[in-house]
Amino acid sequence: MAAQPPAPVPAFRRPPAFPERPPADPALLESGKALYGVHCTFCHGVDARGGSGGPNLIRTSVVLNDKNGELIAPIIREGRTGMPKFDLTDKQIAGIAAFIHSFKVGGYDVSRMTPPTIVTGDPAKGEVYFSKTCSGCHSVTGNLKGIASRITDPKQLQQTWLMPGSGGGRGGASPTKVPPVTVTVTTAPGKSITGLLNRIDDFFVVLTDSEGTPRTFTRDGDSPKVVINDPLKGHRDPLGSYTDNDIHNLTAYLVTVK
Ligand code: HEC
Ligand code: HEC
Repeated sequence: MAAQPPAPVPAFRRPPAFPERPPADPALLESGKALYGVHCTFCHGVDARGGSGGPNLIRTSVVLNDKNGELIAPIIREGRTGMPKFDLTDKQIAGIAAFIHSFKVGGYDVSRMTPPTIVTGDPAKGEVYFSKTCSGCHSVTGNLKGIASRITDPKQLQQTWLMPGSGGGRGGASPTKVPPVTVTVTTAPGKSITGLLNRIDDFFVVLTDSEGTPRTFTRDGDSPKVVINDPLKGHRDPLGSYTDNDIHNLTAYLVTVK
């Protein structure tokens, strides 16, 4: 056989610089940018290349294969471990997708070169925010006493208060032991049963009773009466409403709680 130069083997396979995307509608892009800024920047970074706790989005296959938000939508609506779900419309999600897609897949962003500190907030403002938003359930001299001595990494501390029980990100540090969600179903006056919530939708509620037996109840509007007790409601509900400033200020305050 004549000496044939071997075919060049690429050292590693670069993600293709695809997809070639037509420029997005500017209004859609603008709205998506704003929504991304409010809901996603904190975890995925201003440039979608990763932030506090959230992965780089640019090169994930979901994002690469997504066209107008159709693949991203279920993730946004259902959430993931460490990512809350968001109640956003198709149009809003299409905007967010357009914004994420506006970054070059192979691109590089100078913002990545800034030192990765997240303690950029104003602790005094954070304290005010804390007493307004958190003091109903916590106190820095009570159940959060010395929290910053226990969780010394500010990033992890931030993740802990944003999503208790999420495991503090990749580090695998011991998550806070989070009490489970329970539900009370009242089938008739004076007849109610409380247990661990397994599943609920418009038609059924399934709980595990104190004996460990799963119990299914058919739902029809308000009957039976169903009351969910989510101990982390105080954490889940406001997730979509924090601004970046709130988050940074609050973390800046909490790192002082030594
Ligand atoms: C509280 C932090 C947090 C927020 C806020 C958040 N995410 Fe996430 N997101 C995560 C984490 C953590 C993961 C990885 C979950 C996993 O590994 O299962 C993730 C995963 C994803 C993925 C899947 C990536 C993959 O690897 O397939 C997409 C897409 C995504 N997020 C988009 C968004 C968008 C869009 C928003 C805003 C509407 C958002 N996220 C808000 C934390 C967050
Ligand atoms: C409605 C009640 C409620 C509200 C409001 C609330 N939390 Fe929590 N928080 C909990 C529960 C329940 C847990 C999990 C059990 C525990 O650690 O006490 C928790 C856990 C935490 C933890 C982890 C504690 C640990 O020991 O690891 C931090 C930090 C935290 N919350 C901070 C905050 C901050 C900051 C706010 C305000 C933005 C807030 N919480 C609002 C109920 C609440």
